[in-house]
Amino acid sequence: MNPCAYCGDMSAPNVVRRPRLTSPSGYAWVTRFALILLCVIVVSGAAVRLTGSGLGCSDWPRCNSEKFIDVSTTHGAIEQINRLFTGLVTVIVILAVLVARYRVPYRRDLVLLSWGLVAGVLGQILLGGILVLTELNPILNQGHFLLSMFLVANALILHRRAKSSDAPTPVAQLSTFQRLIRFTVIIGSIALVTGTVVTASGPHAGDEKARRLNFAITSVARVHGITVFIAIALLVFVAWKVKSKKMQDLYTPLETVLVIGVLQGTIGYIQYFNNIPALLVAIHVFGATMFFLSLVNLWMVANQIADANPVITDRNSAIVS
Ligand code: HEM
Repeated sequence: MNPCAYCGDMSAPNVVRRPRLTSPSGYAWVTRFALILLCVIVVSGAAVRLTGSGLGCSDWPRCNSEKFIDVSTTHGAIEQINRLFTGLVTVIVILAVLVARYRVPYRRDLVLLSWGLVAGVLGQILLGGILVLTELNPILNQGHFLLSMFLVANALILHRRAKSSDAPTPVAQLSTFQRLIRFTVIIGSIALVTGTVVTASGPHAGDEKARRLNFAITSVARVHGITVFIAIALLVFVAWKVKSKKMQDLYTPLETVLVIGVLQGTIGYIQYFNNIPALLVAIHVFGATMFFLSLVNLWMVANQIADANPVITDRNSAIVS
């Protein structure tokens, strides 16, 4: 491939030299960094909750009525480190929009996806503020986690697309196989939602004073476990179809999501039967993020294969249906 395919004719008098960051690979560095930071902030946000520092600062955006920044207590310091980290995430998502606008070749889909990150982060900042002001309303707490999942999925889609020079062509009609994968992603997402209900009813609210959902932890954990079981069973069904039809490009994405799912389920049971220790919950939150990302990745790879080879996928989907 021409190494300067994106530079244009440099000998022409009116050519503006673009910084290297604006090439597809340069832009992919920005999106990779955004994706990593957004994953890290999910865990650092959980750390705030798990150390009981959710009301370490009683006000927002000020820490309290006396000081804007107050690190005189451990809880206050933990909460403010997380707020500082939010600032870093805000900078990188704004950078993602700016660089997308100057990326060569220009891609409208990347600009829109990077705006999605900015909108999501702004939403999180607002929601985080309302959470503090409502003394950690449990439903808003669930929303805070689920919006994070939307953000990491958006960042993954942006990152995968950023590496290619062409935008994917919209598919007129989904094949049965694509529908099966999409259904699996939806069920996996429901498992995440039921997980947040367990958290919202359990001991790790973020502060002793925080309100809880009025559900018995045993009942909601059972519902959560059942939705997880259905998601894993569906993934095993997909794996069987993929293996029997030798769809080799899907082997690794499927193995990844299955391994993460099984590990995550094991951690879930261990934490449940050991009085939900904070450290295991932090690992469970990280695992949930990885599980969701690997599901989204599976969905994207399945779509790519369908786009590249519609005949083969339709033949396979005919057997799935
Ligand atoms: C693929 C497997 C699984 C996924 C993706 C998953 C996902 C989640 C999510 C997203 C949360 C909420 C985290 C938060 O709001 O901060 C959660 C909480 C929880 N999960 Fe799972 N989970 C899985 C398997 C399991 C299993 C099999 C159990 C066993 C019953 C389990 C037990 C729990 C418990 C007890 C909590 C509450 C932890 C807390 O107090 O914060 N999980 N899970």
